[in-house]
Amino acid sequence: MPPSPRVVLGVSGGIAAYKACSLLRCLTETGHRVRVVPTRGALEFVGAATWAALSGEPVTTEVWDDVHAVPHVRLGQDADLVVVAPATADLLARAAHGRADDLLTATLLTARCPVLMAPAMHTEMWEHPATQANVATLRERGVVVLEPAAGRLTGADSGAGRLPEPEAILTAARRLLARPGAGADLAGRHVVVSAGGTREPLDPVRYLGNRSSGRQGYALAATAAARGARVTLVAANTDLPDPAGVHVVRVGTARQLADAVRRAAADADVVVMAAAVADFRPARPATTKIKKSADDAEVPVVELVRNPDVLAGLVTDPPRPGQLVVGFAAETGDETGDVLEHARAKLARKGCDLLVVNEVGDGRAFGTADNTVVLLDRDGGQQTVGPAAKEDVADAVWDAVLRLAGPRAVGGTL
Ligand code: CTP
Repeated sequence: MPPSPRVVLGVSGGIAAYKACSLLRCLTETGHRVRVVPTRGALEFVGAATWAALSGEPVTTEVWDDVHAVPHVRLGQDADLVVVAPATADLLARAAHGRADDLLTATLLTARCPVLMAPAMHTEMWEHPATQANVATLRERGVVVLEPAAGRLTGADSGAGRLPEPEAILTAARRLLARPGAGADLAGRHVVVSAGGTREPLDPVRYLGNRSSGRQGYALAATAAARGARVTLVAANTDLPDPAGVHVVRVGTARQLADAVRRAAADADVVVMAAAVADFRPARPATTKIKKSADDAEVPVVELVRNPDVLAGLVTDPPRPGQLVVGFAAETGDETGDVLEHARAKLARKGCDLLVVNEVGDGRAFGTADNTVVLLDRDGGQQTVGPAAKEDVADAVWDAVLRLAGPRAVGGTL
């Protein structure tokens, strides 16, 4: 059995420190050895005894404790991952400036492993140019700094600044541990991912929909955030928790999805269309519920009209020139060709840079945790991925995107 990964969980002094207790539980229950390093401020919110009891490890805050063991050097050197959650404005500032005035900041200076920070603070503090400059500095150095979630803050405020849910931070942490040397290779990029399935109303209670769960799209968004990207997820009718560090825009219909994707894509480097978009919608949805008639033989006839093809539109009329466009193809073979023949024809027809081909039917792909795909690229490349967890498939897609993008032009897109 491989040894348990060693994680340093840094906790700084914000009210969200209480949520770090759940994160600690999540980490230990999934086989990680965790040393908690709270700041002095964090101990005002949650005491050392709680951290020690939950982690089963000693808890130190100052570099002056256990000096014989040189913890400020050893903890960072030995760690496979450092997670700071919550990261306050003060912690971000101290880390960005290379301060070493407590055990956590000293550990950040000695760590050579991936570092993940989950900021949490009031919206004004997050948006302040000083905090944004510190975040930019840390990201340039390869630290993955997640975007805070939006929602209810302490007291009556709400806005951007919430700590993402512990399970979502755990997912990001596990992605970094799964790919140790890779680091934040999507840092500085804005990626847009669509996920889920659109629903086209027939009347106020019924719709035409499809079976997409959104899981592959969510995995793409979560892994991109864990690789340092700024991520906008356009989610159509999904029932999944928001991934950590991802801005989620919820939509219902194909036309709403088209608008949201184009708006988000205006400054995006990559757009990934993982959503199952309805090709047709009822021409005239009823404004009141459609009733059965007394005559058994009488059935309503629904006239359909075409929806916009979002993916094709991104290629023919790019919101930002030079951005990379990734399509998905859910295919079954038929008498006119097998899955890959249909997929190659689709890649040519849609003109995107990369096509992720899913064989569907018989319970495959929809709603399952694992997936097998074939990646077809514009240069004729073909790669089979899986069967693998949807997160591993997602990482293979981002690897292919980075390969196709080539070295990054300064100030340009990917
Ligand atoms: N797509 C889109 N807009 C649509 C339909 C599909 O952007 N109106 C995108 C999907 O998000 C996916 C890709 O196109 O990335 C392929 O979707 P698919 O349903 O497999 O292809 P279609 O173009 O609808 O072709 P067909 O159903 O005829 O196979």
